[in-house]
Amino acid sequence: MADAATTQRVQQLREQLHRHNYLYHVLDSPRITDAEYDALFRELQTLEEAHPDLADDGSPTRRVGAAPAPQFDEVAHPVPMLSLGNAFDEEELAAWRRRAAGMLEREDFAMVCEPKIDGLAIALTYEAGQLTRAATRGDGLRGEDVTLNVRTIRSVPLVLQAGASLPPRMEVRGEVYFPRDAFRRLNEEREAAGEPLFANPRNAAAGSLRQLDPRVTASRQLAIWVYQLGWAQDAETPPTHWETMRWLGELGFRVNPEIARFESTEDVAAYYGRWVRERDDKNYQTDGVVVKIDRLDYQRHLGFVGREPRWAVAWKFPAERAVTRLLSIGINVGRTGALNPYAVLEPVQVSGVTVRQATLHNEDDIRRKDIRVGDYVVVERAGEVIPQVVGPVAERRTGGETEFEMPALCPACNTAIVRDEGAAAHRCVNAACPAQQYERMRHFVSQAAMDIEGLGEKLVAQLLGVHLACDLETRQVYPHLTEELATIRDLPDLYDLSQERLAALERMGEISARNLYEAIQASRQRPLPSVISGLGILHVGGETAELLARRFGSLERLRYASKEELEAVPGIGPIVAAGIASHFENEGNQRIVDRLSDALDTPEGWDAPTADGPMPFEGMRFVVTGRLEGFTRSQAESFIKERGGQVSGSVSRKTSYVVVGEEPGSKRDDAERLGVEILSEKELTALAEGNRA
Ligand code: IVH
Repeated sequence: MADAATTQRVQQLREQLHRHNYLYHVLDSPRITDAEYDALFRELQTLEEAHPDLADDGSPTRRVGAAPAPQFDEVAHPVPMLSLGNAFDEEELAAWRRRAAGMLEREDFAMVCEPKIDGLAIALTYEAGQLTRAATRGDGLRGEDVTLNVRTIRSVPLVLQAGASLPPRMEVRGEVYFPRDAFRRLNEEREAAGEPLFANPRNAAAGSLRQLDPRVTASRQLAIWVYQLGWAQDAETPPTHWETMRWLGELGFRVNPEIARFESTEDVAAYYGRWVRERDDKNYQTDGVVVKIDRLDYQRHLGFVGREPRWAVAWKFPAERAVTRLLSIGINVGRTGALNPYAVLEPVQVSGVTVRQATLHNEDDIRRKDIRVGDYVVVERAGEVIPQVVGPVAERRTGGETEFEMPALCPACNTAIVRDEGAAAHRCVNAACPAQQYERMRHFVSQAAMDIEGLGEKLVAQLLGVHLACDLETRQVYPHLTEELATIRDLPDLYDLSQERLAALERMGEISARNLYEAIQASRQRPLPSVISGLGILHVGGETAELLARRFGSLERLRYASKEELEAVPGIGPIVAAGIASHFENEGNQRIVDRLSDALDTPEGWDAPTADGPMPFEGMRFVVTGRLEGFTRSQAESFIKERGGQVSGSVSRKTSYVVVGEEPGSKRDDAERLGVEILSEKELTALAEGNRA
C-alpha cells in the first residue's frame, strides 16, 4: 500500500498534468515547456508503477497503451444522433428561419453560428465526471464503441473539471477531426514508408478512429471540437445552446472559439462570408456553417422532420471545382435497365478528395454540354453529392477529341438498347440481364428495403450465378453470366432457399448459412413500405412507398390500383403513377408480386393512420429495446412517431411503455423497477389499432 505522502503526490501530479494537458490541447496556451511536462509525466509513471494500488483509469498516463481489441462492440445511442438539413444560399437560410419563426409565432430569437467541422461525430459519456464511453455515430441509432481509441485524443478530457453542477451522467457530442498539419505529416511519413496515402483528413480521421489497436490511434494526433450536449441526467443544465457551450468549456471541453450569436440573417450571412474567405487558413477542414436556434425550449418546440432538426441548418460552403481530362465514358446498367453514362477522369483533387469518376446524367446532357472524350472538363463536388462534370474547357481542345455514342448493345448482356420514347434514358429491356438482376436483388435486400443482414453484393452475385467482370479501360464492374448455375433467379426465390442450400454455397460456413437463413426469414415480416420500395419500381423510393402503403394497405390492392387511383394519392404525380401502373402491367412483375405475396408475412395496419388521421399514441412516451421481428429499430420508431407518440432512449418514470423484443437488456429491468408497463411487439400494433385495453 502506498503511504499518504505518495498518494497525495500522485494526486497532485495527476491534477497538474490534466491542467497542463487542458492548457495545451484545449486552450492552445501552454504554460510549461514540453520537457517540464515530460518530467512530471515520468514522475507519475514511476510512482504508479511502484504502487499498483493507486491505479486509476482517469490518470493522464492511461491515455495510451491499451491492448488491441478483437472488434468494436455495438452501442445504442440513448438519444439518436441525427443529421442536418442543408441551405445553399442566404435565401434558403432566410426560408429556414421564416419556417421556424412561423412555428414559434415570433420573430425575435437568437441564432448561434459555428463552423461545420468535416470529421466524424462522436458521443462521449461521462459518469461522475469520468469518461466512460465514446461511441461513433454509426447509423444514428447504433454506433461502435471506440472508447479506447478516443481516450488517446488529448483534447478529449478523461476527467471533467468538477463544477458545482456536474451531472451524475451526461453525454457530450462533438466532431473528431485530423488537424491539417498533422495530416500532412502523416502522409509524408506514409509516402516515405511506401504506404498508401490517405485521400483527405476526414478519411484519415475515420481510419484512425476505427483502429483496433489504440496505440495506432494514439500516434495519429486527432483532435475534437464539441458542439452539443447530448443529454444529462438529473441536473439543471443551461437554458440555451450558447450558455451550454460556455458551460461545456468550463467543464474542460474543447469548444470552437469562432462560435457567435446573432439575431438577424444578415449578421449570419456576414459570418458565413467571413468563413468562406478564411476557411483555408484554419488547421481543420470545414464544409459549412451550422446555424442553431439558441433557446433550447424553442429547439424542443420545433422538433424534427425525419432525421433532421427544424432548429438547426447547415449552410454549406460553395461547391469546389477542378479541371481535369475526361479519359473515357463508362456505362452503368441500373436495376430498371437504364443506361447511365459516367465520366472516367484523370484523377484530380477537389476539396481534398481524389475524384476519378463523375456522373454525366444521360446522352442528351452530354450533347447539350458538348462534352467530348479527351476534353479537359470542369469537375464539381458539392458537399456529399457525387462529383459532376460541369462542362468542357473548349479553349483547350486539340481536335483529337471524340464525340460520345451510346452503345447499341447492353455492355452486360449484349441485348439491343432501346430509347424510351420522349425520355432521355436508354434502356436494356432484357429482364434477364445479369446487371439488372444483380442491381434489383441488391436493392431488394438493402437496408432501405427488406434489410436482409449479411446479404452483401458478393453474395448476391454468387446466388445469381453472375460474376463481376471489370472493364479494364473504364474500370467499370459489370455482372456477367457465368457457367456456374444460378442458385436463384428472382427476388421471391430467396424465400425458397433452405439453410442446407445456403450452406452448400462455396465459401459459406455453417454458421453464416444459419445467420443468413434467419435473416431472410426475419425479412418476411417487413412492413409494407419496405416491401413496396424493395420492388424497385421506377421513381418509387422510401417516401413514395409509405404514401402508397398508407393509401392501399396491401400489395394486392396496390397492384390492382388504376392509374387514376394512383394519381389521386396526394404526393404522387402522373409520371410516378404511370411508372407504377406500367410496372404492375408487366407479366414478369406480376409473377414476382404473386410469389412475394405468398412468401411474405407483411404485418397489417398500414392503411390506418395518416398525419391528419387518428393519433392513438398522442401524449405517450415509448422506449424500444431488444430485437424486434417485424420492424427494424428505426421502423418501430417511425411507427410510433407517426401515431403521435414520442420515443426516448432510456426508461424513466415518464415512460408510458417499454416495447420489448428479443434480448432486451437492462431497459427491461429498468421498466420493471420503475413499474413501467411492458409491451410485446404484437401488443404495440394492437395498441395502435385501439384493440388493447
Ligand atoms: S450539430 C441534430 N454542430 O454535422 C444534429 N453538427 O450533418 C446536430 N457537425 O452529425 C448536429 N460540426 O457530425 C453540429 N458545429 C456542429 C457540427 C456538426 C460538424 C456534423 C455532425 C453531424 C453532422 C450533421
